[in-house]
Amino acid sequence: MRTVASNTIQNETGVSSEAGTDPTRRGFLGRLTAAVAAVGALVAGWPLLRSLVPNVLYEPPKRFRIGAPENFQEGVTFLEEHRLFLFRDSSNYHAVSGICTHLGCTVKFSPFTLPQEETVREFTYRALGEFHCPCHGSRFRGEGTNYAGPAPRPLKCFHLEVSRATGELVVDVATEVSRDFRLVV
Ligand code: FES
Repeated sequence: MRTVASNTIQNETGVSSEAGTDPTRRGFLGRLTAAVAAVGALVAGWPLLRSLVPNVLYEPPKRFRIGAPENFQEGVTFLEEHRLFLFRDSSNYHAVSGICTHLGCTVKFSPFTLPQEETVREFTYRALGEFHCPCHGSRFRGEGTNYAGPAPRPLKCFHLEVSRATGELVVDVATEVSRDFRLVV
């Protein structure tokens, strides 16, 4: 007569095991439980882990050097990386934003055949051309004033200075200046 002591039985090879479970199944269940516990711990702890990583927005710098003044040609130079137009008239420099004030497309400079004297909003200057936006057709005078299309405001003009350390021009796009601003170098 076969007897069963407690919950232990003997198999044909003489190895005993817990009643109703085999070692392979127990191992699998153990690993599954551990995995579920690990996932649960990760989900529960995620807010804490995330709070340890600061929310950092990597914005381009607001002040940057663009090169020595003498390296810029007479007239207008487009600085694509900064979406900026740098104007040079002999020893006078000024910077105009290339970002359309409608929806932010980059405007293009359309030069006149010959420079011409223009007066816009009581400011007289030597116009080299004007700006056109390729997206929705806004147009701006050579000093930045919007005059056609949906753009609601003039193009921005930014502060310029010469770096004492390197002698290069420094643009500060955080500081807007009036359209008659000129840096004399
Ligand atoms: S973005 Fe320039 S006109 Fe719309």
